[in-house]
Amino acid sequence: MQIAVIGAGYVGLTTSACLAELGHLVLCHDLDGDRIDRLNKGVMPLYEPALEPVVRNGLANGRLRFTHSVRDAVGAADAVFLCVGTPCDANGGIDLSQIDAAARLTAKPLRRGAVVVIKSTVVVGTCRRVREIIADVRKSLDFDVASNPEFLREGSAMGDFLHPDRIVIGCDDPRSAALLTRLYKPLTDKGAPLLSTTTANAELIKYAANALLALKIGFINDVADLCERTDADVMSVAEGIGLDRRIGPAFLAAGPGFGGSCFPKDTRAFAETGRAHGASQALIETLITQNEHRKKRLAARIMREGELSPGDIVCVLGVAFKAETDDVRESAALSIIPELQAAGIEVQAYDPKAADKARTMLRDVAWADNPYDAARGAKTTVILTEWTEFRKLDLRRLAGAMSGRTLFDFRNLLQRHEAAHLGLRYFSIGRRPSIPTAAPERRIPALSALDQRVAAPRR
Ligand code: UDX
Repeated sequence: MQIAVIGAGYVGLTTSACLAELGHLVLCHDLDGDRIDRLNKGVMPLYEPALEPVVRNGLANGRLRFTHSVRDAVGAADAVFLCVGTPCDANGGIDLSQIDAAARLTAKPLRRGAVVVIKSTVVVGTCRRVREIIADVRKSLDFDVASNPEFLREGSAMGDFLHPDRIVIGCDDPRSAALLTRLYKPLTDKGAPLLSTTTANAELIKYAANALLALKIGFINDVADLCERTDADVMSVAEGIGLDRRIGPAFLAAGPGFGGSCFPKDTRAFAETGRAHGASQALIETLITQNEHRKKRLAARIMREGELSPGDIVCVLGVAFKAETDDVRESAALSIIPELQAAGIEVQAYDPKAADKARTMLRDVAWADNPYDAARGAKTTVILTEWTEFRKLDLRRLAGAMSGRTLFDFRNLLQRHEAAHLGLRYFSIGRRPSIPTAAPERRIPALSALDQRVAAPRR
C-alpha cells in the first residue's frame, strides 16, 4: 500500500521505517527541512537502537523516502499517518495544535477514499475533531479518520512495532477497518493480535494503558520506601509479586520516578480528561503528585545522606530518562540536578548518549566523557539511569577518583557488598544501605573466605 507519514520524530520515524520494512511504500514528511535532507542521506536525528539500519534499508530498496512536500506524500496515499507531537498545555491537558495543523495540511492533497490514521497520543474525540477540520477544507471529499495508537517504548521501539503485544485500530466505519486490517496483515499473519474497535475506545485504550503502567511504577516506588524502613528488599518483593501471572514482573523496577515524553504527559492528560468529563481519576491524580515529589525528595536525600555542603562536588551518572535512549525529557536528572545546584552543589555529569540533549536543558554542569572523569573530586556519586555501562562500573576506580565515599544507586544496579568492600557508603532504592564503620585505605585487601561467599554471583 502507499502510505504517507506526517512527522519524523520518535513515532513517525519508527512507523515509517517499519511500514516500509513490512513491504509498504512510505513517504515521510516533516516541517524540518534539514531533518528531511539528513534522513534521505541515512543520518538519524535521534538515537533509537536498530532504527538506522532499517531506515537505510528502506532508502536502498526504494520503499522509504523523506519529502519536503506534503502534496508529494499525501497525494497518492491510501493511508496518511499523523505522527506529530501532542505536548502538554498549561493546565496539563493536551495541546492538539500540531494535530490540527497536520490535518489542515493533509486535507488539500488527500485522495478520495483515503484514511487519515491518528497514531499520535490524543484525547478521546480527536478523530471527530480531525474529521471536522478536513471536511471543512474539502466539503464533498469521501474519506475516513481512524485511531491507531502506538505502544512503542523508546529504546525498544523497533521491536515493539514489529513484534507488538497487540495492534489496536479504532474505526467508526468498515472501510477504514478493512484497510488497516490489510495494512497490518504482515504482522497479524505472524500472530500479532489485532483489536478492531471504535475510535473512542482506541483513544482511551492508549491513555489507560500508559496510566496503568505508570501506576505499577508508582506503586513499587511506594513499596520501596516501606522496604527501606522494614529491612526488606524491594527487588525480592517485586520478584515475589511479579510471579503472579495476574500481576507480571514488568514495570516493577523501583527507581527515582518515571520520566520520558509519555508517562508524565499521558498521566496528566488522562487526569485532565477525567476532570473534564466529571469522572476524576483519583488514583492517577495521586500518582502524578507522588512521582513529582519523589524526585525532589531524592535530591534532599542526596544532600542529607551525602552530608553535602555548598561547594561540594556531586557526580551524576545518567541524565537520560531511561537506558537505551538519548531522550532526557522529564528525566530524574532534570529534576534532581537543579535542586542540588540550588543548594550550592557543583555538578559533574556523564551519560553515554544523552549529554548533547541534556546540555540544552541544564546549566552550569561540567560534562565528562566517561564516568571516572565525572567522579573526579566528587564527594558523592549518584546513578540515575540504568545504562548497562553503569552495571559494570569499576567501583575501585570510581572510588579512587572520588574525594568522598558516598554512592547513591537509584536504579539498584550494583551489589551492596562490593561497595562496602571498598569502604563506600552505599545507598540504593528499597534496600538496606551499607555504611562501613570506617573508610579502609584505598588498597583493597584480598577477599576473605566470608567475603568470597558473600561476593558469589547471585543465582
Ligand atoms: C512508555 C510506554 O511504555 C509505551 O508503551 C508508550 O507507547 C510510550 O510510553 P517510554 O516512555 O518510552 O514508553 O518508556 P518506558 O520504558 O515505559 O519507561 C517510562 C519511565 O518509567 C522511564 O523513566 C523508566 O525509567 C521508568 N520505569 C519503567 C521505571 O521506573 N520502572 C520500571 O519498571 C519501568
